[in-house]
Amino acid sequence: MTKIVTLPGDGIGPEICAPAVELLEHFVPGVEVEEHVFGGASIDAHGTALTDEVLAAAKTADAVLLAAVGGPKWDTTDPSAPRPEQGLLGIRKALGLYANLRPVRPLPALYDSSALKREILDGTDMLVVRELTGGIYFGEKTRTETDASDLCHYTVEEVDRIARVAFEAARGRRNLVHSVDKANVMETSRQWRQVVHEVHGADFADVQLEDQLVDSCAMQLIANPTQFDVIVTENLFGDILSDAAAMLSGSLGMLPSASLGNPDGPGLFEPVHGSAPDIAGQGVANPLAMFLSTAMLLRHGLAMETEAAALESAVDQALDAGLRTRDLGGTAGTDEAYAAVRKYL
Ligand code: NAD
Ligand code: IPM
Ligand code: MN
Repeated sequence: MTKIVTLPGDGIGPEICAPAVELLEHFVPGVEVEEHVFGGASIDAHGTALTDEVLAAAKTADAVLLAAVGGPKWDTTDPSAPRPEQGLLGIRKALGLYANLRPVRPLPALYDSSALKREILDGTDMLVVRELTGGIYFGEKTRTETDASDLCHYTVEEVDRIARVAFEAARGRRNLVHSVDKANVMETSRQWRQVVHEVHGADFADVQLEDQLVDSCAMQLIANPTQFDVIVTENLFGDILSDAAAMLSGSLGMLPSASLGNPDGPGLFEPVHGSAPDIAGQGVANPLAMFLSTAMLLRHGLAMETEAAALESAVDQALDAGLRTRDLGGTAGTDEAYAAVRKYL
């Protein structure tokens, strides 16, 4: 039997997770869905964002579906206080999920919801491949009365394996990889660039490779997004660039993600956005990034390509038919969005 662990988390998390579970139950008859407390909710209940029990449960699942964590209740500048985000980083690391795939494919129906012009958006179809378990997120952190430090550290092996994921992905797409770094300043970036080129020369010379500095990439994403096919970049740059790229698709509420990399364990599927505390509890959150993450779970986590495509198509059709949540400039609530998608299944 297929077992899915769900982690609704905080803020809008539970609101968007509930309908996603219904979609899972629709597509995977007999699926066993096991919900666990996670993030801020877990801090409140157990004093830590990720308990050993929840991690153990996740390890036995076929896939993990996560909504979002965090919120003002747990925001503190005290370095010793537990933080919801530690649960997220902890589960990614513990499950060995170093490859975060964030596809950005703006739908013509949503061009008017984006801050960018239709002519600029038309034809955009990119995949951000974000390194997820290394870099400054996981380097040593120190804090004294007078100073603070975050260490950015990468090993050759960490860069090598994420580069391979990007090149492989490009082969199934338009065969182009932009490797994004800050090699004019950072040592980790200079090594990143060298390793990416070594992997390319050795095993992927058929794929076109371009280097781009991250500041320029941020500008190019907005100025000329159609030039990109696959973007591969380190953890922090990937975090920032993918939120910017989300605006191409009309809203942060549209962008899904899959975190993969461990052939012997489950993948983790979650929207790119956070817990949106500003709209939590109002029933107005856009659940589509969560639904599209569920589609990625079907595809990458359960090898159910037909079902994944059917869910993505239902989302497209609902939007074509006029579905617009508030973030997309409309008035539909979360339940209405779910009902609109359901109509096309
Ligand atoms: P956010 O992504 O939660 O929200 C940014 C803006 O986008 C807000 O105005 C929000 O209302 C809007 N938005 C986001 N998702 C939406 C949706 N589905 N429908 C409609 N509008 C949506 O980012 P933030 O406000 O900077 O962070 C809030 C909390 O979320 C923080 O604690 C942060 O650490 C956390 N966070 C968690 C994750 C995650 O769990 N994967 C990701 C990012 C941020
Ligand atoms: C994301 C989020 C997380 C990250 C935070 C909440 C730790 O912003 O998934 O993009 O920075 O990875
Ligand atoms: Mn982010």
